[in-house]
Amino acid sequence: MNQNFWDYSVEQNKTELKDIHHTFPTPIFESSISISNTDEIIDDLRKKYEQSPNHTISNSVGDFLLPGDEVKKLEKNKVSFYTEDTLNENPIYFELRDQILDIASSVFNAYAYIDITPRMETMWGNVLGYSGYIHPHSHSNCMFAGVWYPEDPPHVAENSLSNHIRFIDPTRMKYFYMPKVEGRNQLNSGEIYIKPKKGMCLIFPSWLEHDTVPNENTEETRFSISFNLFFNGTLGFPNSLNRLTV
Ligand SMILES: [Fe+2]
Repeated sequence: MNQNFWDYSVEQNKTELKDIHHTFPTPIFESSISISNTDEIIDDLRKKYEQSPNHTISNSVGDFLLPGDEVKKLEKNKVSFYTEDTLNENPIYFELRDQILDIASSVFNAYAYIDITPRMETMWGNVLGYSGYIHPHSHSNCMFAGVWYPEDPPHVAENSLSNHIRFIDPTRMKYFYMPKVEGRNQLNSGEIYIKPKKGMCLIFPSWLEHDTVPNENTEETRFSISFNLFFNGTLGFPNSLNRLTV
C-alpha cells in the first residue's frame, strides 16, 4: 500500500547497504501498565467529562471556549476535553502514578542518569468524543512527558488512523530537499503513528511534538491519561558552573 508515512509497525525493508548508523535517536519508551482499579479511573474520567458544563476546546495556549456559533459547532462536532492536572494527587490515581514512576526510573537508567530520581509534576485525563482530537504540541516545564491508555481505543474502520497518537520528526532540516520517493521508510518519513491499546504507556522527551488523530467513532469516547515528569536531585558537577539542585 502506498501511504504517506512510514508504518512503524512493519519490519524495515532490507537494504543492500551495510552499517547504517541511526545516530542521535529520539526514543519513545513503550511499556505496559496493568492496575487494579482501571474501571474506577474510567468511571471518574467519564463523570468529569459528562459533568463538565461546557466541553473545553483546547488550543496551543491553553483552555478557552469559543464564542457564539463556533461553540455550538464545536460542541456538536469536535469534543476535546481534559480534566484538571492534579490527578496525581487523587488517591484513585496513586497506583497508576506509582507504576508510571517505576517505569520512569527505568527510563532514567536507560539514559544512565545518576543523582536524580523522577517525580511526577502533573497528571490529567483526556476524553475525546466524536471528532475530538488533540492538536500538535509539546510539553513545557518538564523533562519527559507520557501517556497511558486505560482501554483500547474506540472501534473504527480497519485501516483508519483514527485515535492513533502521531509523533513528528524534530529534525526538520533534513527536509530541505524532498525528492519523490517510492515508499516511506524510517529515513524518509517525518512522522510515526502508534495505535493505542489497553495498558500501553508511552514516555518520551517533553520537547517531542505529537498530536492525536480525530476520533471517528460517533458513539464511543477515547480515554487517555497524560503526565509530565520532572526530577528530584542534582544536575551537573561541583565547580562546573552548571550545577542545579531541585
Ligand atoms: Fe501531549
